[in-house]
Amino acid sequence: MRAADIQDDLTDILVTEEEIHAKLEELAAQVATDYSGKDLLLVGVLKGAVMVMADFSRRLPMNASMDWMAVSSYGASTKSSGVVQIRKDLDTDLHGKHVLIVEDIIDSGLTLSWLLENFESRGAESIEVLALLRKPEAAKVQIDCKYVGFDIPNEFVVGYGLDYAESYRNLRDVAVLAPHVYS
Ligand code: PRP
Repeated sequence: MRAADIQDDLTDILVTEEEIHAKLEELAAQVATDYSGKDLLLVGVLKGAVMVMADFSRRLPMNASMDWMAVSSYGASTKSSGVVQIRKDLDTDLHGKHVLIVEDIIDSGLTLSWLLENFESRGAESIEVLALLRKPEAAKVQIDCKYVGFDIPNEFVVGYGLDYAESYRNLRDVAVLAPHVYS
């Protein structure tokens, strides 16, 4: 759906679909240069990263394998503690692999911090992160993210994979959710 279809639920459009696609094209070219001649494994973090993975991977001018991981916190308290539960693990053995974790957003950074540590223990040859969005003001831990799409303000954003109570993931753009929706 487009922002115009649900305009009462949104305040601002932060990043348009066109801007996202242009940025993913740019990042894909950069990643292809950096990983030239290497075996690249893209790991998408469900569910938010589905859109980024689909659009980024198709723009990548090289072959790459894909795998998925589903993680979730036990609730708000767990998010702040950084403890993550694996709901679906990788099907791939990471030994000797060049891994690029594909994320929709880095908020506090706690999910990625946990994932990076977890992946490091599995013997990957290299591990980098690509995140479409990052909220610098929300960071609780610093994540070394090599490929960042857009830095955005610390607002409640939805769309392009990002949800509120499982809704709005299918919005084409990234937009700020109107407070009346969640308060
Ligand atoms: C979101 C997002 C990241 C994480 C970022 O996932 O996709 O994985 O939160 O937040 P953090 O930097 O504060 O850890 P979420 O747990 O909402 O699950 P979802 O992808 O299924 O929506």
